[in-house]
This record gives sequence, C-alpha cells and structure tokens, in this order.
Amino acid sequence: MIVTGLSLGTLAIIVGSVSVLRAFQLFLDFRRLLASIHHLPGYRTILSSSSVLGHLFPPTPLLTLGHDYSWLSKHAPFAERGFDIISAVACWPKATGSLLIADVNVIKDIVWSRGRFPKPLDQYSILTFFGENIVVSEGNEWKRYRKIVAPAFSERNNRLVWDATTQIMLDLFDTMWAGQEEVVVNHSVDLTLPIALFVIGAAGFGRPISWKEDAVVPLGHQLTFKDALHTVTQDLTLKFLVPKWAMGLTKRFRRARLAFDELHRYLTEMIHERQGSQDEDDNNDLLSSLLSANGDKNLSKGEVKLSDSELIGNIFIFLVAGHETTAHAFSFAFALLALHPDKQEEMYQHIKRVLPDGRIPTYDDMPSLAYSSAVFNESLRMFPPVCTVPKSSAEDTTFNLTDVNGTLKTVVVPKGLGLTLDVPGLHYNPKYWEDPFTFKPERFLGDWNRDAFLPFSSGYRGCVGRKFSETEGAAVLTILISRYVISIKDEPQFAGETYEQRKARVLNAQSVLTLAPTRLPLVFRPRRT
Ligand code: HEM
Ligand SMILES: *[C@@H]1O[C@H](CO)[C@@H](O)[C@H](O)[C@H]1NC(C)=O
Ligand SMILES: *[C@@H]1O[C@H](CO)[C@@H](O)[C@H](O)[C@H]1NC(C)=O
Ligand SMILES: *[C@@H]1O[C@H](CO)[C@@H](O)[C@H](O)[C@H]1NC(C)=O
Ligand SMILES: *[C@@H]1O[C@H](CO)[C@@H](O)[C@H](O)[C@H]1NC(C)=O
Repeated sequence: MIVTGLSLGTLAIIVGSVSVLRAFQLFLDFRRLLASIHHLPGYRTILSSSSVLGHLFPPTPLLTLGHDYSWLSKHAPFAERGFDIISAVACWPKATGSLLIADVNVIKDIVWSRGRFPKPLDQYSILTFFGENIVVSEGNEWKRYRKIVAPAFSERNNRLVWDATTQIMLDLFDTMWAGQEEVVVNHSVDLTLPIALFVIGAAGFGRPISWKEDAVVPLGHQLTFKDALHTVTQDLTLKFLVPKWAMGLTKRFRRARLAFDELHRYLTEMIHERQGSQDEDDNNDLLSSLLSANGDKNLSKGEVKLSDSELIGNIFIFLVAGHETTAHAFSFAFALLALHPDKQEEMYQHIKRVLPDGRIPTYDDMPSLAYSSAVFNESLRMFPPVCTVPKSSAEDTTFNLTDVNGTLKTVVVPKGLGLTLDVPGLHYNPKYWEDPFTFKPERFLGDWNRDAFLPFSSGYRGCVGRKFSETEGAAVLTILISRYVISIKDEPQFAGETYEQRKARVLNAQSVLTLAPTRLPLVFRPRRT
C-alpha cells in the first residue's frame, strides 16, 4: 500500500513538475517571439488558431481567435490599432506568431516575391488526400504543374466557359424551372453548387451533366458525383482528424468514407473514359492538358511529367478550387441583388441596353456587360470566398508603412514568421474603399484600386482560374437577371423583422473551407416582357 501510495505520489509530482516546466518553457518561447516582432500590437491567445483545439472553440478572448476571426472582425482590429498590420501570437501547442496584413503595398511586396514569402505547405495538408497538386506545392514542382495547366486557361477556353455556362443556365430554365410562376430555393447553395459543378465539369473536364440526369445515381455507384464531391469538400477536416480505423464508427464517418471512395472511383472513370475516346487531340481543356502530361507511358521514368497520383490530386484540387468558391460567390451575389432591388433593376436595364433584341449573349458581349461583372466583383469584395491567404517569411526582413497619423513605421519580420493576407481586412479598409459596408457595384465602373481587390489572391500564386470564374460569373448573372427577378423568400416565422434584421439574417456567413451563407432562402420569378 505504502509503496503504491508513494509511487503514485511520485508520479503526480513528476507529471506536475514536467507540466510546470513545459508551461514555463512555452511562456519563455512566447515572450521571445513577442520580443522578436518588437511587441507589435495585436492578439495574444493561449491556443493557436491553426491548431485543432483553436479551431474547435468559438472565439474567446485570451483563449483563441477561432477559425473565422478575419471574416468576423473585418477591418475593425486594424482600425482599433491605427495600423494595417497587426500580430497574432499564441503559445500552444507551441509558440507561434503571424502578422495579419491589410495594407496594399505590403501585400504587393509579398505576392510578387516568390522566393522570400513561400506558402507554408504544412497548413494545407488536408488538401493532399488525393495526391500532390498545384495548390499544395512550391518551387520547381509548382512551376511544372502551372506550366502543364496554363494552356487550359487560354482565351479560347474562356469562350468555352461562357458557352458551357449559358447552356447550363438555359437547360435549367427549360427543364427544371419551365412553367413555374415562382421557383423557391430553400438554400441558395442547392442551386449554385450544381451550377458551378456543371460548368467546371463541362468546360474543364468535358463531362457535361444535365439537370435531369444529375438526380440519378449511375449504375455501379452509391452516390451521385455531385453528392460525393460535396460530402468530400465538407468533410475534408473530418477525414484529416479521424484515423482510418475509426472511419467506420459513426454514420457520419461512414458516409464521409463512402464519399471519398466514390469520388476516387468517379475521377478514375473520368480519366479512363477520356483516355479511351478518339477526339482527344482536338480538345484543349484542363483534363486533356493534365492527361497528356501524364500520358505517354513510353517516356523514360525521369521524363514523365505527371504521375498517376499527381493526376488524380490535381483533378481533385481543380474540382475543389473551382466549385465551392464560385458557388458561394453566386449565392452572395443573388442575396445582394435580392436585398437591393434598385440595383437589380439597374442591372436589368443595363443588360437590355446591351441586348435590346433579347438574344442570348455571347463571350464577345462580355466587355459590354460591365454591370454584371461589377455586381460579381462587388459580391467578391464584400464576401470573399477565401478570407485568409497564408504565407511565411523565408528570411529576416522588414515592412515599412505609415500608420493612421501618417508616421512611417518599420515592422520587423523574423525568419519563419507566418504572414496572413487578411482579405476582409483589405476589402473593408476605408483607405481603399469608400463606405465599405455598402453594396455599390458602380464603384467598379469608375476608378478603383486594383491592388486592394484580393479575392483571387495575386502575384505568382494568384488564382489560375480567375478569368474562368469571372467569365462564368458574368454569364450566370446576365442570363439569370435577363429572365428572372430574385427576391428573398418570405417565411411566416420572420414576418415581423425589419429590413436590417432580414439583411443580417440572410447574409449571415461562416467560413468552413470557404466562406458560405448559413441559410439563404430565395425565390425566382420569371420576368414578364
Ligand atoms: C470565385 C471563385 C474563386 C475564388 C474566390 C478563388 C480564389 C483563389 C485563391 C484565393 C487562391 C490562392 C490560394 C492560396 O494562396 O492558397 C486560388 C488559387 C487557385 N485557384 Fe482559385 N478561386 C476561384 C475560382 C477558381 C476556379 C474556377 C478554378 C479552376 C477552374 C480555380 C483554381 C485555382 C488553382 C488551381 C489555384 C492554385 C494556383 C497556384 O497555386 O498556382 N479557382 N484561388
Ligand atoms: C495617432 O494620434 C492620436 C492623437 O495624437 C493618438 O492618440 C494615437 O495613439 C495615434 N495613433 C497611432 C497608431 O500612433
Ligand atoms: C423547402 O422548405 C419547405 C418548408 O420547409 C418545404 O415544404 C419544401 O419541400 C422545401 N423545398 C425543397 C425543394 O426542398
Ligand atoms: C524599411 O526601412 C528601413 C530603415 O528604416 C530599411 O533599412 C529597410 O530596408 C526598409 N525595408 C523595406 C522593405 O523597404
Ligand atoms: C472585376 O475584377 C477583375 C479583377 O479580378 C477585373 O479584371 C475586372 O475588370 C473587374 N470588372 C469590373 C467591371 O470592374
């Protein structure tokens, strides 16, 4: 008894001392980190927001910022400190620090220096399940991927994007929506996710899906392609956190596992179908660019440009990158137009002036349809699907910028420090955007600061699909608004709310993988012409 008591006591003392020592060590590291950035004002928390625990807890002062801090706070924390760079330093699981940046010149410096400010690839590991890919790579590997996919984002293919998009929208109106006096969509993403998926499927992968056949699970599968992809993107974090042996334990886990397997099967099928088809050569879309780099198995090992796993990895990343981002952008654009009927009418009148005979617009009309592009841009400014772009500093360096009083200050950046391009901080910075909380598409028709608009990131690692999605955006908004009026669905439980309350309710958003509306019910009514 005594022996056991002693050893338990000893154990407790040992564990206790180790914990105290460890905590003390973390505290010293934390202090050292603060000193290394010369105590630049900002957030101080116990949990790092990139740690698992930091993600699970809601924002709590001193404990964690939560995963959504940049979206929730926008420019306010910068305004509060009178400076467009603030720090975020945490001490657990280890002392980590990063700078949040909402200044145009500093951001330009970062995105245009490829070697000095690389991507912190460890923060992207959840995106490598299906294989190495263009998003999660650096240096020569990234260059090789970018070179392979570049031809698929040519001007010629933008035309393909436009045509595929108009086709998909007309197919929606002619089949699903035909004859309806009002179309109710309970949650906007139920409409916008399929639109974005069908466009990338048709224009990127030569895999046209019609609205009717989409609802049917094909032979040999248990989920539709859409459901498999959707579940996978929703459950990436889950799959990352839950060990393989545990994936059979709950219904949710099993569904996630099934979705991952199903998606892999769909992607493999898509590859085999294209490989077996005859007209491979006259197609320059993304899939054929990727396939031809993977292609020729007769090349010697060193010459193979894209391995099988890289092929799948890149197809997957293009589906993810091109799907949710665009769909959520459309959802917010629809909501903003519904909440601002005057702007919606102005957009309609603009379209009618460009297409007085009501013909279907072509890619060549896109420059004239500036109001449609402006609505898309303004939605991306107010609701950037990607809120934070992480970088890191590969060397000891400095940033120089002026504070709110015009005093030039130098920010010290030690090697290894994290850097976060804070997109909402930039997009709501009154230094660059007048009246930033107001929906004003016209601001994009005059002079505007192009460097202060960062929905697609910028520089070397900027979005390769930017023009693709701008084209898709202009086409979707133009075709839709030329035929339908969008409004917010009236629901009895919200009958008593004010305009401001309704606006806050439907525009409520949360950043999961990308920024998404939480619940946005819409109604589409055909225009009488
Ligand atoms: C509104 C829609 C979109 C938004 C807001 C968006 C946003 C972004 C952002 C912020 C990045 C930089 C990410 C980082 O640094 O980690 C990025 C990269 C990328 N995007 Fe997009 N994107 C959109 C649409 C698309 C589409 C349609 C495609 C493909 C068809 C696409 C493919 C990519 C790829 C491959 C990269 C990585 C580029 C590289 O590292 O070289 N995106 N996107
Ligand atoms: C700017 O000047 C005001 C008034 O002198 C001062 O209170 C404030 O702290 C200054 N802001 C910064 C960031 O130095
Ligand atoms: C939308 O929601 C209403 C009420 O909750 C329900 O009756 C209707 O079936 C839903 N429609 C769709 C398409 O899910
Ligand atoms: C910032 O200013 C300091 C002098 O105050 C200078 O040594 C440094 O090179 C400047 N950094 C940049 C990035 O211009
Ligand atoms: C929208 O933003 C893009 C940059 O992403 C720009 O090239 C385009 O000109 C903008 N369109 C309008 C109408 O402002």
